[in-house]
Amino acid sequence: MAERPRVWVSQPLFADIVGRLGEHFEVSATETVVQHAPDAVAAALREADGALVTLNDAIGAAQVAGAGRLRAIANVGVGYNNLDLPALSAAGILATNTPDVLTETTADFGFALMMATARRITEAERWLREGHWRQWSFESLLGGDIHGATLGILGMGRIGRGIARRASGFGMRVLYHNRSRLPEAVEREHAAQYVGFEALFERADHLVLVLPYAPEHHHLVDAVALARLRPHATLTNIARGGLIDEDALADALGAGRLAAAGLDVFEGEPAINPRLLALRNVVLTPHIASGSLATRRAMVALAVDNLIAALGYGPDAGRPPSPLNADALTHARKRGA
Ligand code: GLV
Repeated sequence: MAERPRVWVSQPLFADIVGRLGEHFEVSATETVVQHAPDAVAAALREADGALVTLNDAIGAAQVAGAGRLRAIANVGVGYNNLDLPALSAAGILATNTPDVLTETTADFGFALMMATARRITEAERWLREGHWRQWSFESLLGGDIHGATLGILGMGRIGRGIARRASGFGMRVLYHNRSRLPEAVEREHAAQYVGFEALFERADHLVLVLPYAPEHHHLVDAVALARLRPHATLTNIARGGLIDEDALADALGAGRLAAAGLDVFEGEPAINPRLLALRNVVLTPHIASGSLATRRAMVALAVDNLIAALGYGPDAGRPPSPLNADALTHARKRGA
């Protein structure tokens, strides 16, 4: 009997869903939560035909150099800055991600984090638990309004548009900036007005970052951009930590040059800049924007479907639902794979 393809699963991921891989493949599943070192990822991939990975697993040329049989990597996540796509394409390895299934859940969270930040919800809870209520005054813990405020959305993809739809229920004015302007009909549908990058920072009461990370966006929100925000403004990031210069943000928050920040993502996560940890006016969450039970299960299910199809099995054999680099197949053919 022909040897079954081998797949590596890099993290514990809903065993009942990942179990479907066992219908086609020999599965080597990681059973405890691990931050795999780059060499450990390379070693695991060397033995694998396919891999199911998360954004904690960085995979580039060095990790696939010795992975002669590897043909597919299914990322559990919509963002894929952990994958070096040109390196994977050149090696003939097809990569996939999990778009759409997390859009609404992530938009819910972006909106919730923006509200928690503006209304100082976690700071107020800490204050209460610390026993300060007797010092309560009419002027304690005052925040900014959401209703009637101007929401700025940087990155008007699927999740950005989801946040805009939620904003209309709160009577917010929506401004956005995006690499390219949306068609007029889409702007109208989301009651969203396109403005330049600088104007977005200058005019938003609450600014939310939802754009994908790319190296050219590294520290896009730097001291200069932060200086354009007004002192009552808030900044919420549910995209990637590397978009913000965290030291510049800590400077601005500490000096009261903006009111507060809500951060679900961090440049060195899981490590967090200690200056942010020390500030009272930051809401910090551990990268959970897509974290509803139903959505996390849907993400894993889509990643499993992608991997099965990318390795040529199941009803979509050869046609994974969400490929990222179809050019990998051309490279694979050239290599005679
Ligand atoms: C989460 O950050 C994702 O990209 O899915």
